[in-house]
This record gives sequence, C-alpha cells and structure tokens, in this order.
Amino acid sequence: MKSGLVIAIDGPSGAGKSTIAGLLAQRLGYLQIDTGAMYRAVALLISRAGIDPSDVAAVERLCSNVDVRLEVVDGVQRVTANGQDVTGQIRTPEMSLMTSRVSALRPVREAMVRAQRVMGCNGRVVLEGRDIGTVVFPDADLKFFLSASPEERGRRRFTELLAKGEQVTLEDTIAEVILRDEQDSRRDLAPLRQAEDAIAIDSSGLAIEDVLSTMEGFVKQKL
Ligand code: DC
Repeated sequence: MKSGLVIAIDGPSGAGKSTIAGLLAQRLGYLQIDTGAMYRAVALLISRAGIDPSDVAAVERLCSNVDVRLEVVDGVQRVTANGQDVTGQIRTPEMSLMTSRVSALRPVREAMVRAQRVMGCNGRVVLEGRDIGTVVFPDADLKFFLSASPEERGRRRFTELLAKGEQVTLEDTIAEVILRDEQDSRRDLAPLRQAEDAIAIDSSGLAIEDVLSTMEGFVKQKL
C-alpha cells in the first residue's frame, strides 16, 4: 500500500531538477530517484560494450538483463550498473550527448521505466526526469515542470563542469544544452513535455530556496 506521495519533477537539462529533488526528498524524508542517472548508466554500459546505438538488436540484448540501481551512501546518491559503481563516469559532456541518443531507444526506455515503477510504487519518492508525470507515473500525486532559459541552464552546467575540472567553454556548454533539448523534445518515445496537470515553475533568476518553498507549499496542501 502506498504510504506517502509520489512527486514528479520533470524538465529540461540544467533546470536544477537534481538539486531541488535532492533537497525536497531530504526535507520530506523521501527517496530521490534521479532517472537521468539511470539512463546515463545504461549509456555508459552501451558505450563500454562498444555497441553502436543504431544496433537495436545489440541494445535490446544488453537491456534484457541490465541492472541499474540508485543507492544513498553516506548521504550521497550512487549509481551502480550491473554491480559496478559508475557515479563518477556518467556526467561528462560526451556521456550527456550519448545518453540523450540512447534514451530515445525503446528497449532502454522500457527497462528503465519498469525499474522506476518498482522503485516508486510504494510512495514517499521524488522522481526527477523528463517523462515522470507523462509516462512513468501519470497518476503522480504532484507534478512539477521545472524550466529555465537555455542561457541560464548552460551557465549553471558550465560552472558545475568547471568545478569538476572538465575543459569546456561557456559557448559549447550552452550549445550542448540546446542540442539536448532538441533531441529530448523531438524524439517519438516519451519526449520531454509538460504534463497537462503539472505545476510549471521557471527557475530563471530564482534562488533554490524560493523554488523549494513554492514546492513545499503544494506538498503541504496534498498531505
Ligand atoms: O537529467 P539528465 O541530464 O541527467 O538526463 C540525461 C539524459 O537522459 C537526457 O538527455 C534525457 C534522458 N532522460 C530521459 O530521456 N528520460 C528521463 N526520465 C530522464 C532522462
């Protein structure tokens, strides 16, 4: 039986979903499910296996017994793929673009959606992604659609990547954000789209605390 809310946070890359979902989950004592990290883990497996994403049969074989898990270790979310911790390898610019391609493939989406439903079906979860409110949990108790301008999202991502020591330029990072928006919104399967009953929040120029308190207000109404 469901004992708490299923909260969906969808939106384009760099809108602040992970930070916000993490903090909201922490305050509520809920589990955070970063579905983007799950797609990234599969993309890494595909890339390490030397599989061309256009080879659907090979992708299907890999997905038929893929095991992607999210665990919190010492307060930090870790991602494992087939038993290996891949947390540190999935967030490079190359893996971002690869994930955007790979996440458009049916076998990948089917495997991940199945795993996400199992993880979320008991409630007390904050799931973040692109299709949580439209496909994974269309009956979620609360749906948010978090966005921000491509320039602001690119700037945030640029700062994150620089802090990690990646060699990137602001121009390239904004271009990558725009390219991923296009790929994620134009695909046939589960494209990035705001659910009709989602609450839209534009985080451009807003502090994290402002976004969180808006969300918490809606959560309180539901509880
Ligand atoms: O949220 P993120 O940037 O870590 O997501 C990486 C990619 O995964 C993104 O380009 C789109 C894809 N994705 C998806 O298709 N569906 C989701 N629910 C989450 C992410």
